[in-house]
Parts: sequence; C-alpha cells; structure tokens
Amino acid sequence: MARASAPGKVILLGEHFVVEGCPAVALAIDVRACVTATLHGGDYVEVASQELGSVKFEGEREGGPLYPVYLAAKKVIELTGTRAGLRIKVESDIPPAAGMGSSAAVAVATVAAVAGAVGAAVSLDEISELAYKVEEVVHERPSGIDNTVATYGGVILFRRGQGFTKLDVKLEPVRVVLADSGVPRSTGSLVVKVLKLKAKYSGVLNSLYQSASALVEEAVHALQRGDFETVGELVNINHGLLSSLGVSCLRLEELIYTAREAGALGAKITGAGGGGMILALCWKDNVEEVVRALERVATRVITAPVSARGVAWET
Ligand code: PMV
Repeated sequence: MARASAPGKVILLGEHFVVEGCPAVALAIDVRACVTATLHGGDYVEVASQELGSVKFEGEREGGPLYPVYLAAKKVIELTGTRAGLRIKVESDIPPAAGMGSSAAVAVATVAAVAGAVGAAVSLDEISELAYKVEEVVHERPSGIDNTVATYGGVILFRRGQGFTKLDVKLEPVRVVLADSGVPRSTGSLVVKVLKLKAKYSGVLNSLYQSASALVEEAVHALQRGDFETVGELVNINHGLLSSLGVSCLRLEELIYTAREAGALGAKITGAGGGGMILALCWKDNVEEVVRALERVATRVITAPVSARGVAWET
C-alpha cells in the first residue's frame, strides 16, 4: 500500500493567456488531495471516493467522474508493466470544479501513490508528465500549469512549452483570499470560448496578449522585491484583461469590487472564470476585514496559505 498527496493551486496572474504561450504565476496552496493505492490479485482497478462512491474499471470501460483517476493509475501500470489489480481511495480537501486544480492534484497524487504501491521509482518530472496526459483527457488544451504546481509546490512561473521556474518569493506580509461565486462553470468550454474570440479578433487581441506577458514579467520583479502594492495593481489590471476576454460575469465583479472596497491590494478572477472563484491579495493585517466583507456575498471564503510542499509520499 502507498499513500501520496498533492496540493491545490491558485493562479495569481496569467490564466487563459498562458494557453497561448504567455507566462503565468501560480501558487500551491495548503489544501491537499490524498490518494491511497493498494495492490490486489484481480485484474481490475477499483476507484473510490467519499463523494462519488466506488467504481470498478475493467478493460476499456471509459467515462464518469472517477475515470481520470483510473486513467492516471493505468498510465503507471502501463509504464511499469504491472500485472496486479489496484484499489484506489481518493480523499480530497480541494473543492472540485472551482479553479483550484483539484483534478490535477488528484492525478498527481494518484500517479505517485500507484508508483509507490508497485515499487516503481518515478521522478517528479515523470509524475507531472503523466498527470498532464490525464489532464489532456479531462480538459480542453490544458496549459500544464496545474500538474506542474501540484507536483513541485511553491510559487511557480510557468510558460507553456518552456517549462517553469520556482520563484523565491517571501509572501509572509500578505494573504491570498479566495471567494466562491457559487456559479458553476466548465474550464474546457471557457478555454474554447476565449480561443474563438482570439481567432475572430486576432488584430485586436494580440496586443492584449502582449500586455499580459509584460504584466507578468513586471509582477515577478515586484514579487521578488516584496513590492505587494505593485503586485496588487497588476492583479487588478490582469482582471481587466480577463474581463476583455469575456470570462467575467456580474457575480464575479460583485465579489471583486467587494474585496477591493474592503481594502484588498488587488482582486481578480482566478482560473477559467465564468463563475468559480475570485482571488484577493491582502495585507496580513487587513485579511479579516476582506474575509468578513466577502462572506456577506460569496458562497464560500477560503484563506489559502501557500504550500512549499508539492507531491509527497505519506507514511
Ligand atoms: O479554472 P482552472 O483552474 O481550471 O483554470 C484554468 C486555467 C486556464 O488558463 C484557463 C486553462 C489552463 O489550462 O491553463
């Protein structure tokens, strides 16, 4: 038996633009998905979670919300030539479909747990790559940011096709608050919607993508020198750019302006938009005021501590 966990993430800057090669910054947060894998003598994979019950996968059976977990296990089984069956238990504290990278964290933890159970040594790069292959089945054109953050943890500067850099940033003076609009959305269809808009108005939107890249570069310097007022302003500008791409909505704007009026340094959509979560960057001393204001209008408010720890095998 082996047990592994991986953190969720929030995108601080650059979502959507990252799909087309612009840089993005994401933070691993200390809310984790935990997966336990146990070998058995059968020739099937059984996947169980508290919310979704238990499903037996045999042969080519596809589909269902637990299918990606099976797929992650199958990738390790194929890689290692394992013959045994598996029982997999998923326990996740990461809210699903909320832009917090829950599917990638589960995929990363599953790959690590199954590799542990079959006694295969896998590198972090291999874990991240296999989880990306699972994400490709679940999401439309994933950039790879979610599996990277879930694998490596910390604060990550990511650029599609060029890998990532771990940033050495001291975030102690600030807090990241997440507030849920309660509006459901699908990352895949929002990504497609944005790509269609970009194709239709490429002459107009190309310069927006250039601005998004410049914004992230500027924000990385500000983060590195601890200039959080600048980071906050850039967070606000980033939200404006996302709004231009058509991924905001009335509920999200309400949450964003609530956070700003309560004194947040900056607030924006985080993740695909259309619903889901907003992120507010706040001074540590001001976080309670922002949380209180958001609690009046959001369905859920989370103060998310950044996690230095990526994927880890648990004992
Ligand atoms: O809402 P989420 O966490 O699924 O965020 C998706 C982020 C996008 O940039 C919109 C897509 C991607 O794969 O990077």
